[in-house]
Amino acid sequence: MTGLFDLSNKVALVTGALGLIGKHFCRSLWNSGATVIATDLNGEGCVRFASDFPDRVHGMGMNLLNPEDIKEVAHQIHHRFGPLDVLVNNAALNDRVEEGSGIPCFENYPLNLWNNQWKVNVSGVFLTCQEFGSRMAQNQKGSIINIASTYALCSPDQRLYQQKDGIQTFFKSAAYGATKAAVLSLTQYLACYWAKNNIRVNAISPGGIENNQNVDFISKYSEKTPMGRMGAPQDLNGALIFLASDSSGYVTGHNLVVDGGWTTW
Ligand SMILES: NC(=O)c1ccc[n+]([C@@H]2O[C@H](COP(=O)([O-])OP(=O)(O)OC[C@H]3O[C@@H](n4cnc5c(N)ncnc54)[C@H](O)[C@@H]3O)[C@@H](O)[C@H]2O)c1
Repeated sequence: MTGLFDLSNKVALVTGALGLIGKHFCRSLWNSGATVIATDLNGEGCVRFASDFPDRVHGMGMNLLNPEDIKEVAHQIHHRFGPLDVLVNNAALNDRVEEGSGIPCFENYPLNLWNNQWKVNVSGVFLTCQEFGSRMAQNQKGSIINIASTYALCSPDQRLYQQKDGIQTFFKSAAYGATKAAVLSLTQYLACYWAKNNIRVNAISPGGIENNQNVDFISKYSEKTPMGRMGAPQDLNGALIFLASDSSGYVTGHNLVVDGGWTTW
């Protein structure tokens, strides 16, 4: 990877690195030349994941619910690798309310489930931005990429989660989209706040990623998508590297929607 998209000599951190998309993000950043810090709840899992790479990937445990964890990882990165250049806020909770679980979709949706998603999806992003972004501000450069969702922009169509016989297998909760909309707002706030410090803050809003869902669901989702298919994690790589690298040097406060046109219809 050369020229505008080159990330050699850059240090990038990914949260939720052991998840479906996080693993691909780490590989993509590594392919572009970055030194990658893969973080997730399971520190040993992160170290194992990093050991699959020949070099430049380092695994560290970091729980977004724990500010001390975030401070400790920031401290370690600073001493071992120098200033962080790219922060990818990818970790999130995305609950699905199973039919028969006794949890109603909205009317009596428990406050603790609502709060859990706000803590990880919003406060987690707030805390990492506070810690790593403040360090970037001192260093006068950096790119922060927050992973939102198409559900930040429009409501889930609950009929997607209904079987042919009418049984609703699960509902998407209201909490997920609300938290992701908050992530977009925080993205805009910080883009303006830190523009003077040469930090760019952008978001990526992926559409649904295919991941062993049942055939009926994939077919219904694909029909609702102008490009006629669900996304693959690799579909997000271009957006990620664009926003991480100097090729997006004059782009900030932007939400790059990668959804095959889902939100356009
Ligand atoms: N998969 C999709 O279809 C899709 C669509 C749109 C947006 N997104 C967004 O993309 C991002 C990644 O999604 P994914 O499908 O890979 O999710 P995933 O559930 O596979 O991975 C999320 C990761 O976040 C980690 N995590 C959860 N709580 C944490 C905490 N307190 N501290 C640190 N890490 C924590 C989990 O351990 C997990 O590895 C999320 O922000 C999600 O909202 C995903």
